[in-house]
Amino acid sequence: MIKANTVSQVREQVKKWKKEGLSVGLVPTMGYLHKGHASLVDEAVRQCDKVVVSDFVNPTQFGPGEDLETYPRDFEHDCALLEAHGCHMVFHPDVSEMYTEEIATYVENISDMPKTLCGKTRPIHFRGVCTVVSKLFNIVTPDKAFFGMKDAQQLAIIRKMVTDLSFGIEIVGCPIVREDDGLAMSSRNTYLSAEERKQALVLSRAVKLGQELIAKGEHDADKITSEMKALITEMPLAKIDYVSAVDGTSLKDTKTLKNGDLVAMAVYIGKTRLIDNFTVNCDKG
Ligand code: PAF
Repeated sequence: MIKANTVSQVREQVKKWKKEGLSVGLVPTMGYLHKGHASLVDEAVRQCDKVVVSDFVNPTQFGPGEDLETYPRDFEHDCALLEAHGCHMVFHPDVSEMYTEEIATYVENISDMPKTLCGKTRPIHFRGVCTVVSKLFNIVTPDKAFFGMKDAQQLAIIRKMVTDLSFGIEIVGCPIVREDDGLAMSSRNTYLSAEERKQALVLSRAVKLGQELIAKGEHDADKITSEMKALITEMPLAKIDYVSAVDGTSLKDTKTLKNGDLVAMAVYIGKTRLIDNFTVNCDKG
């Protein structure tokens, strides 16, 4: 596996691959990789000849008071996981390689998409995500890019960005990967104490409850999200940020659930903010 720190290294290597007629897949990550990331790499390896994984904690998507400094990092462990899963090149730049000291240009979705759900409490987050993902797309010029469905709002906003800016890159959304007990994989799970880890299971239980209610024929979004909220508040360490039902593409609030809608939540367990979601399938929940 090639370890690249500079934009020019990545560009030269990708140029060689493209000259040989090989397709390139990109998996953007912020490192501290787990099985969820591994599943994205596996899918990229299945679909593309060469796979580039970016491993970069992107400062522009963290707001003041968020966990930029403490965000977990372990590049050696990441490289071992990536080699084991067949990644061909990891891009691990310094912040100074990606950003000048004064950033004057951002990529920003100016609709309500980044203002709802997580955007209500993280107002600059998706501007930072769109900016860094655009930069990675320009650097790697992949044929396909792979993102997890756990970050469903991010995925919808990136799909819109790719359409609006004619990136010509296929965006592949990959299913949420869960621990055996249901907790959605996240680098932030590492912040949880043993007791918090137990109570964090309420997120996946709420997902299951929502799906069961839909499978029984309930399509009223308020009723479903209210029951999910009631379940979550039973946990003393849980504080709900939001539990919402939105259209899966526009992210606009929805009252009556239909196939493809998104039921998403963010919940603090102690100080750790966790997210989870499911896409509505009226036949199965
Ligand atoms: O999903 C993430 O880990 C990040 O938001 C991403 C897409 C790598 C951009 O920094």
